[in-house]
Parts: sequence; structure tokens; C-alpha cells
Amino acid sequence: MSTIILGIESSCDETSASVVKDGEVLSNYIANQTIHEKYGGVVPELASRAHQQNIIPVVDAALKDAGIALEELSAIAFTRGPGLLGALLVGTSFAKGLSLALNIPMIDVNHLQAHILVHFIKQNTPDFKMPSFPMLCLLVSGGHTQLVLVENHLKMTIIGQTIDDAAGEAFDKCAKVSGLGYPGGPVVDRLAKLGNPKAFVFSKPRVADLNFSFSGLKTSYLYFLQDKMKENANFIDENKADLCASLQSTIVDILMDKTRKAIQQTNVKSFAIAGGVSANSGLRSATEALGKELGIEVHMPQLSYTTDNAAMVAIAGYYKFLNGEFADHSFAPMARMPF
Ligand code: KG4
Ligand code: ZN
Repeated sequence: MSTIILGIESSCDETSASVVKDGEVLSNYIANQTIHEKYGGVVPELASRAHQQNIIPVVDAALKDAGIALEELSAIAFTRGPGLLGALLVGTSFAKGLSLALNIPMIDVNHLQAHILVHFIKQNTPDFKMPSFPMLCLLVSGGHTQLVLVENHLKMTIIGQTIDDAAGEAFDKCAKVSGLGYPGGPVVDRLAKLGNPKAFVFSKPRVADLNFSFSGLKTSYLYFLQDKMKENANFIDENKADLCASLQSTIVDILMDKTRKAIQQTNVKSFAIAGGVSANSGLRSATEALGKELGIEVHMPQLSYTTDNAAMVAIAGYYKFLNGEFADHSFAPMARMPF
């Protein structure tokens, strides 16, 4: 008999539902909340309200796209955390209601583990290969920057992480002070392709072990802009592409330096990137190059699985289902959630 999982993601500003059948994605429906753009960042209260509006239409669309009826579902997987509490409550409550109505189990999923598990979605392409274990994953998103040692689908250990801002925050905050809108990561990526990555030099942090820091870079970028703007009020406009290229290459270098160290220390068989920032073209080229340099198998997620989506929640639910790990109806969402 097939295992069919409905996944629900509502941890931040994307309401998403997906159907996964025997490890393959049948549908992955995402409603982006554009309301936050005018505030330059996610407004938690508005995110919760939008999830409440979107959740039923999104689940309906995911089921229809997949051609699956509610009665065929084996279980419902939902993001329990980490994330915005009010946003998580919407997905968690919905999962509880549906689980009770259909009398099927529900499965709690850690959002960060889910980002990593997109690499274990079965794909019907000739060149597709599942990563070998142990795998090292660089998880880079708007809220997290971590090096994770992945021993199997469900056993993961954080071996390094940011001590302040996340890599995505560095992209977003620097983009914001440059007047490039929100979220800034994709805009910086696009403009960086037209610029010189060596045009400007920004400071890199010195942090112990396998940890990262991005708050110094953000400050150094801001002071640099303020100085230049005193001399020339049009400095940003005239140098947008070079600024983006230099910022992006600094962030990628910081990430790759620690990643190289982590691969060498752990003797892993494969290396992967995941999370919203793994969509970045500079990071993807650097990952490819690092794989060649160290002679290690490299995995990069399909672009549609980089930023928040429910396929990652459904696939995480699928592996937990196979392992017999289910949630209790008393489970509450967790704004902070350990692995
Ligand atoms: O994983 P995600 O969707 O949400 C969190 O869990 O945080 O990641 C969102 C982050 C944002 O900071 C966004 O700017 C960044 O991913 N991002 C990118 C790119 N696409 C999304 N950063 C750099 N280059 C991109 N192409
Ligand atoms: Zn995420």
C-alpha cells in the first residue's frame, strides 16, 4: 500500500501545502504573502492572519493538483517549529483538526530538518542520485546559518552555527540599507551578476571553530555606504551592481571557508546546501567548485525547494512515518525547537 503524506508549512510568510506519495512530490502549492513588502520585513501578526485566510484554499489546491482525495491520505505532517508562534499555530491547529476529522495520524516536523530533507525527495530524472551518508549540509536561510552533520534521515547534529545574524539576514539588511527592497537576497543575486566582486572589500569576521558571524559585515557595509554617500549622494545608484557583487562574494567566502574546514574535519561522503540562500547563484557556483577541489559528491536543491515550501515538510513527514514517529494531539508549536 502507498504512503501518502499531506505536508503543511506555515512557519513564516509562506502558506504552503504539498502531497508526497512514496517519497515523490505530487504537488507543492505555495501562497506568498506580499503584504510584508511595504513594511520591509515580515510582520508576525499579519502573517498569522494571512495564513488563516490561505490555508484551506492552499490545501485544496495541493490535493487537486496531486489528484488525491482526503480519504487517501496516510498522515498529515506539519511544521511545529522553529518559526513565528502565531503563524505556526495556524498550521498546527489545522493539522490537528484534519487529523481528528479523518482519523489519521499527524507528524510534527522541524522546519530546519525539513529544509535538509529536500535532498531525499525521489526524482524521476536520469541523473538524480540521493546523497550518501554521512552528509554535511550547509543550511542557510533568513533565520538560520548552520553546518549540520546528517547521519541518516532523522539523525542530525549541528556542528557549527552563526553566533549572531543569519546569512539571509546579511543579504536582506544590506539590501534594505541600499534601498533594494525586501527580501533583498534575490535582488542582490540578480544585480551581482552584472558587477565586479572585487570592486569593494568588506570585513570578514574571525570566529572560533565552525561558527559564523554576520553582524560585523552588516555594520561595515553600512558605514562604508555612509562614508561614500557623504562624498557622492548618488554613490549607491552608480555602483549598485559592484556593491551587490562584492557583498555577495564576501558572504559566500565566509560560508565556504567554514564549510571547507567542516568537510575536512568530518570526512563526510557528501556535501549539500539547503534553505532560502541556497538559491544564490554565487553560493551554488562556489559549492560546485568546493566539491571539485575536495573531490566530494555535491548536492544542490531544485530552486523551488530552496525557500520555504511544504514539499520539504511532507518528505520529512514521510521519513518519520516510515520510522513510526507520530505527534500527539496535545503537541503545541514551538517558536524555538531543537533538532
Ligand atoms: O528558507 P527561507 O525561505 O526562510 C527562512 O526559513 O528564513 O529563506 C529566506 C531567505 C531570505 O533571507 C532571502 O533573502 C534569502 O533566503 N534568499 C536569497 C536568495 N533567494 C532567497 N539570498 C540570496 N540569494 C538568493 N537568490
Ligand atoms: Zn525556512
